[in-house]
Amino acid sequence: MSLRVEDLKIYYCMKRGECKAVEDISFNIEKGDSVGLVGESGCGKSTVAFSILRMLPFPGEIMDGKILLDNEDLVTLSEEQMRRYRWTKISMVFQGAMNALNPIIRVKDQITEAIRTHNPSISKSEALKSARELFKLVGMDPNRINNYPFEFSGGMKQRAMIVMALACNPKFLIADEPTTALDVTVQAQIMELLKKLVNDLGITLMLITHDLSVVAETCKKVIIMYAGKIVESGSVKEIFAQPLHPYSQGLIASIPSIEKSSNQSLASIPGSPPNLLKPPTGCRFHPRCEYSQEVCRTEDPQIEELKKDHFVACHLSSGRIASEKYNQVIQKVKL
Ligand SMILES: Nc1ncnc2c1ncn2[C@@H]1O[C@H](COP(=O)(O)OP(=O)(O)O)[C@@H](O)[C@H]1O
Ligand SMILES: [Mg+2]
Repeated sequence: MSLRVEDLKIYYCMKRGECKAVEDISFNIEKGDSVGLVGESGCGKSTVAFSILRMLPFPGEIMDGKILLDNEDLVTLSEEQMRRYRWTKISMVFQGAMNALNPIIRVKDQITEAIRTHNPSISKSEALKSARELFKLVGMDPNRINNYPFEFSGGMKQRAMIVMALACNPKFLIADEPTTALDVTVQAQIMELLKKLVNDLGITLMLITHDLSVVAETCKKVIIMYAGKIVESGSVKEIFAQPLHPYSQGLIASIPSIEKSSNQSLASIPGSPPNLLKPPTGCRFHPRCEYSQEVCRTEDPQIEELKKDHFVACHLSSGRIASEKYNQVIQKVKL
């Protein structure tokens, strides 16, 4: 399944104003791709995910744009039509989903119920058989399916949630921060599992995380969001070799690495993401950008393809304005 998002705009319309959570974003995910959607908390990642499944929480509203799944625009579908897509063609592991399992109902009953809700013709025993297969697929002993969720560790609960998301054989999976609250070893195992789903089952993956290093290990492509907009996108290889947007540069600089000497402190981006009820004028990143100039404060930079499949929205990267310091950073990266 391929997904094409065009000029998507999502606002949360409240009494105290409109929260401009997603502003005119466009991107493409080809069949079999694994794409990371990255950015600090509050930049609109989950909002994008919810809109794709047409499950935006109130008062979120798609104001404009298209969400094309294999050329079918999900935005225009009725709820009835949407039900034919949700979970069966496109599915999602929710942020903090681990605790969504009902602790006092056996895991097998919750999974078989999910399968049979969407395929009423499947018998209970057939549903149980496929649930056990999925348990094996995610690296769990199928007999553990008889347990209650409270008997599972955090990692096992998250695997069970992935089984739930896969229960109806979707071809497109969105995983929203699937490893938050899990320890590092378990996090690595879950990421390995997601990679396996892409490589062995041909599932198309959109992985949402605030942690760019996770994307580097799991995905082939990356989309970087800041304050409701896409600031940069391209292949993981390209973006890590030469991040062009100052925000991407900041995210990469703040990844710990064993090569950085231990007394070298980690760079972090000063300040925090803006309130989207009243986003900054011009480039939304300008208040935190060390290179910002007049035009950055007044004009919103358009996203441009500066190299093949490498898109950036920045007046400096596009060469519209110059900065000695920025050029030095880019030069250094090139070497
Ligand atoms: N239900 C809601 N009502 C109002 N505003 C919301 C709601 N959910 C999210 N937002 C706002 O939308 C913006 C994007 O949030 P979100 O998509 O959750 O970001 P992320 O997943 O990147 O952390 C934030 O400013 C957040 O405050
Ligand atoms: Mg989120």
